[in-house]
Amino acid sequence: MNIKDIAKLCGVSPSTVSKILHNKDSDISVETRKKVLEIIKEYQYVPYSKVINSAAPKTNILGVMISQNTYEAQELLYTIEAAAAGKGYSVILCNTEGEKDKLLRYYRILENKGIDGIISICQETELPESGKVPRVRILDRSMECGNNDTADICFEMREAGYAAANYLLEKGHRKIACLLRENDADIQAGFLLAYKERFISPDKGWMFLGTDEDIRNMGIARCLGEGVTAVICADLEIGMILYEKLRERGDTVPNKISVVSARDHRLAEKIYPRMTAVGIPTKEIGEAAVDALMEIIEGRKPAYECKRGFGLKIQERGSVRKPANHVQGGKIVVVGSMNMDCMISTSHIPTGGETVRSGNIVSLPGGKGANQAVGAGRLEGLVYMIGRLGNDGDGKEIYNSLVNSGVHTDGVVFDENIPTGKAYINVPPDGESTIVIYGGANEKLDRSQVRQYAQLLDDAAYCLLTLEIAEETVEYTIQKCKMKNVKVILKPSSVEKMKDSLFQNIDYFIPNEKEVKQLIPGNTTIEEKADILLEKGVKNVIITLGHKGCYLKNAEHERYFPAADFYPLDTTGAADAFISALAVALSEGHEVIYAVGFATFAAGISITRQGVQPAMVDRKGLALYQEEINAFCRREA
Ligand code: RIB
Repeated sequence: MNIKDIAKLCGVSPSTVSKILHNKDSDISVETRKKVLEIIKEYQYVPYSKVINSAAPKTNILGVMISQNTYEAQELLYTIEAAAAGKGYSVILCNTEGEKDKLLRYYRILENKGIDGIISICQETELPESGKVPRVRILDRSMECGNNDTADICFEMREAGYAAANYLLEKGHRKIACLLRENDADIQAGFLLAYKERFISPDKGWMFLGTDEDIRNMGIARCLGEGVTAVICADLEIGMILYEKLRERGDTVPNKISVVSARDHRLAEKIYPRMTAVGIPTKEIGEAAVDALMEIIEGRKPAYECKRGFGLKIQERGSVRKPANHVQGGKIVVVGSMNMDCMISTSHIPTGGETVRSGNIVSLPGGKGANQAVGAGRLEGLVYMIGRLGNDGDGKEIYNSLVNSGVHTDGVVFDENIPTGKAYINVPPDGESTIVIYGGANEKLDRSQVRQYAQLLDDAAYCLLTLEIAEETVEYTIQKCKMKNVKVILKPSSVEKMKDSLFQNIDYFIPNEKEVKQLIPGNTTIEEKADILLEKGVKNVIITLGHKGCYLKNAEHERYFPAADFYPLDTTGAADAFISALAVALSEGHEVIYAVGFATFAAGISITRQGVQPAMVDRKGLALYQEEINAFCRREA
C-alpha cells in the first residue's frame, strides 16, 4: 500500500496525504486531516521511508485469512501454525467473515506490516490484486485454480459428495437423501455423479439445499419420504439435527436410516451413534500450503503452481448399515415353470422321418421360471419362487438348484400326483436349440397356489412371469401385482395368442423375434410390432434378437443394442439369463438402458456354457465385465 492508495481511499490528493504525514498541514481542514488519519490508522499504513529505515525486510511472520469459523478452517489453521512454527515463522490470523471489505482491509494491513507471505483459506471472494507479498490460496473447488500471481492448493467438496454417495450405494442403499446448505452445490454435484456412474436416477425430492432453519422445519420431513434409507448431511451440525428429528419420530440410526456427514468433525466421535463422515486431509493440505508459500518466499518455485489430488476418505463409524431387508435391490418374485431339461447334443436338428444320433445327453435343472429365479439369485437379487414340482428325484434336484442359488423357496409346492415338468432340448453345434415340453406339475400351478403365497408379492418390486404355465394363472398373478404395485416382466413363449386385457398391465414385455411375429402377425416390421404392443398398453417392449442383440422401445427410448461378443456353445438359456439380469438391475434402481447392458452381458456369458441353470453367471463373474457394460451403455444409440 502506498500514499496514492491512501489518498484514493480518502478521496483526496496524494500531496494532501503527504502534507499530513509530514506535519505540514496548516492549510488543510480539520475534517480532512481527521479522515486521512483515520484511514491511515485503520489500514495501519507505514510510510515507505519507515519500512526502508527499519532495515528488517524479513519479518518471519505469515498472515492467514479465514472466511468462516468452520471445523476444516480450524483444523487447517492448527496445521498451518504448527508447520509455519517448524520453519521459524509466526502466524497472524485474520477472520474476514466472508466480507469483501474486511478481506481488503486485512490484506492491506498485512502488507503494511511487511509480513513475508499470506495463506488464504477458502475465501468466497477473490483476493485483491497481488502486491509484492507471496501468497497461497487453499480452495475447496479446483475449477477456480490458476490465478497467475497466486499458488493454489485445491481439494474438492464435490469429491466429498461423491465419496459419501458412492459409499452408501456400495452398501446397497438406493434411496439416498441429501440435507445440504445453500452453498453446497458442489457436494450435490458429486452426489449426482455417483448416481450417474451407476446409471441410476435419484429423485429430486430427496435433495434439499437450504438454511439450518429450512432443513429443520421442512427439509428433513421432505427428504424422509418414500422409503429413503440413508441421508447425506452437509456436516455434523445438520447430522445432529437429523438425529434429533429421527429420535422424535421413533426411528433409529442406523437401523432405520443410515447417516453420513459430508464433512468430518472431531465431535463425530463423541455423539451416539458415532457419525460416519468424509474426512478431508486437513493436515496434508495445511502443510502443502505452508511448503508452497516457503518455496515462493525463498524463490524456489513460481507463484502460480497448483497442487491438487488430496484423497478424501470415508471415516467409518457407527451411523451406516446395509438397508434392512435388502440384498442389493428390491424383492423379485418369479411365478413360473420348472422342468428337468434333457439336453441332447446333435449334429443337426432332425426333420420329418429322420433319425439322428447323439453322443452326449445330460439332464440338468431348467424351466423358464426356475432358470430366471436361479439367474437372479446368482446375481445377488432377493428372489422368491412360486412354482410346482413333482415329488420325485427331478423335483428335488431342481429344488436344490434354487436353494443353492440363494432363491427363497417358500412358494414352491411338491405335487404328490404328477411328475415334475420336462423339456427335451436338441442342441446343434451352432448352439441354437429347439425344445419340446411336457408340462407335468407346472400345469397344476393355479390361482389357488398363487393366492396361497400372494403375501410374497406384498413388498416386491418386480414379478417375473412366463407363459409356460396356465394363462389363467398368469392373468390372476398380474391382477395381484397391480393391486400390490408390483411391476410385471413377462416373457411370452409357446403361445400364439394373448388376451388384449393382459397387455395393459405389463411393464416389460420381452418376446424373441419369433414370438413377437406369432403374437403380432402380419407384414409389419419389428419396430411397428413394438408400436402395436405399446398401443395395447405395454410400458416397455424389449425384443431379443439372438446374435443380433435386442431392440428396446418405450415412451422415451427407441434403440437397437448389439449382442455382447461371446462365442456360442449353447444358447438355450440366453433369454432367461437376459431377463433375470434385467430384473436384478431394475430392482436395484438402475435405468432401463443400463439394465439392458447388464442383461446383454449376462446373456452373453450364459451362451458360452452348456445347460441353462449351470450356465448362469454370478455377480462376481459379471462384475469382471463392469467396464465393458458401462461403455456399452454409453454408446450412442
Ligand atoms: O428357456 C429355456 C427353458 O425353456 C429350458 O430350461 C426348458 O426347460 C424350457 O422351459
